[in-house]
Amino acid sequence: MFGKEILKNLRAYQQGKQISDVKKEFNLKNIVKLASNENPYGYSQNVNKLFTTMNLNLEIYPDGYATNIRQSLANKLEVAEDELVFGNGSDEIITLICRAFLEPGYNTVMAHPTFTQYRHHSLIEGATVFEVPTVNGYHDLDAMLEKVDQKTNVIWICAPDNPSGTLISESNLKTFLNQVPKRTLVVLDEAYYEFVSEENKYDTNNLLNNYPNLIVLRTFSKAYGLAGLRIGYGIMNKEIAHKLNVVRGAFNTTRLAQEAAIIALEDETFLNKVVSHNAKVKKDFVEFLKNHNFKVYDSETNFILVQIPGKGNDAALQLLKQGYIVRSGELLGYDDTIRITIGLEEDMENLKAVMLDLKSHT
Ligand SMILES: Cc1ncc(COP(=O)(O)O)c(C=O)c1O
Repeated sequence: MFGKEILKNLRAYQQGKQISDVKKEFNLKNIVKLASNENPYGYSQNVNKLFTTMNLNLEIYPDGYATNIRQSLANKLEVAEDELVFGNGSDEIITLICRAFLEPGYNTVMAHPTFTQYRHHSLIEGATVFEVPTVNGYHDLDAMLEKVDQKTNVIWICAPDNPSGTLISESNLKTFLNQVPKRTLVVLDEAYYEFVSEENKYDTNNLLNNYPNLIVLRTFSKAYGLAGLRIGYGIMNKEIAHKLNVVRGAFNTTRLAQEAAIIALEDETFLNKVVSHNAKVKKDFVEFLKNHNFKVYDSETNFILVQIPGKGNDAALQLLKQGYIVRSGELLGYDDTIRITIGLEEDMENLKAVMLDLKSHT
């Protein structure tokens, strides 16, 4: 009755279970949430200082251009200030890209499964969505290229991918970008960029300089631990940035989020700690799982996709009863898996026995 026809077929985002609900439902005291790829180490303690000292002035609108964080980030990334766009999380920038560049009569190409929001917002704008099956969790770039035609406005590359955790190599990416028509935008979603091992990190500035049709998305939600404040950004040539700024809400990021992001950006010690702890705990946990014959998808992120005997929903429920909230692969397009965020060392250590139990009960 009301609204666009397509909305009848789409669901609102299904978020992971809330800790308080799980405690009540299963009568548990301790819950470990490993479902949304949040940061188990929190965020820079310097951000807390900001909360107690900052003159909030909540009656005043924030700086819609996000001038201060823009300057900080432009310096750090060595890009021009007008090559950045800020969003209420990088989620919002995905929405803005769809709003600005997709409409009925045009199409968009993406992997399947991948981060669900690309498909969701593309459909809402009335674009045709071409989804190309992943191979062992990796984007199949050649098959994606075959789908590209005169009407392809946007291609989505999730690098590293959510939910698989895989990262396509920079050389494969370049081979792909060389063949994409110049009129087609390529979105490189690097939400987990900071977690990528040094030897596999892309030379992003070089890519941006060579491919003017590229949009890179990053976020403060993951390695910086500021998911609750909602701030992410895109890097792109200024002509594309201008278009996204036209469609974005006038005051789409709050002053608190902007200020916190500046402080988080400066605290490299915290970031390095997060990244190195994640790498160490992930390596140990993956080794354990592999030694016990679990298939684990390659991961360059702070989460892993694990194949389990049986279905994802059953396994996730079994873990939930023991106090671990993980994400069922059934919601993510990999039915026989669960996605586990890498938590604190102690929690992952305790989870090992529960994983073995999972194997023996199915
Ligand atoms: C691949 C990917 N892109 C984008 C986002 C959105 O992150 P945010 O809106 O918190 O910046 C996420 C969050 O899980 C993600 O996994």
